[in-house]
Amino acid sequence: MSEVLSTNEIKTIFQHSERLFSAQQIEQALSSMANQIHADLENEMPVVLCVLIGGIVLTGKLLTLLDFPLQVDYIHATRYRDKTVGEQLEWIAKPRVSLKNRSVLIIDDILDKGVTLAHIVQYCKSQQAKMIKTAVVVEKDTHRDPNAVQKADYTGLVVEDKFVFGYGMDYKGYLRNAPGIYAITKEL
Ligand code: IMP
Ligand code: MG
Repeated sequence: MSEVLSTNEIKTIFQHSERLFSAQQIEQALSSMANQIHADLENEMPVVLCVLIGGIVLTGKLLTLLDFPLQVDYIHATRYRDKTVGEQLEWIAKPRVSLKNRSVLIIDDILDKGVTLAHIVQYCKSQQAKMIKTAVVVEKDTHRDPNAVQKADYTGLVVEDKFVFGYGMDYKGYLRNAPGIYAITKEL
């Protein structure tokens, strides 16, 4: 949480942004994601791992649509540290539930270069998870790093290669609560 923006600055960014998907469009996408997850994990008693902070909205919304036994834990790993240019991954918290021989569903906000998810998948493997699935609200239509995750197992929507916010995704630590998915048109 580095830069502090004023209420007016945040409002200005929001007013100048372009809405890519409405809440209704996103909810529809989440509902079909939930159906796919149900089909794959219904009998697995998975550990649902929320990747903080961005994964919080998708995790919360998906959980209420998943009608089968599961556990929830979180992992806090961040790559961008509230900046819009990529940095190294920083570990803030690792899950407390043992992942050994468990099916794990990792939930993050966005697949960009795929580096963050690749590190988290690798971590789950190192903990001897037996099955690892990944879910994101949006996939960015961009080039992934060659050694990173190329595609999540469950994807809500695809966005153009722009900086986006809303539904968990932030602009400089703000606007995660925006009621849709928006692209920045004005940088502050
Ligand atoms: P990756 O490692 O490049 O795939 O980056 C994924 C992480 O970067 C996500 O978990 C987000 O926190 C952040 N990120 C990447 N692109 C955006 C964006 O357009 N808006 C907000 N956060 C983003
Ligand atoms: Mg993130």
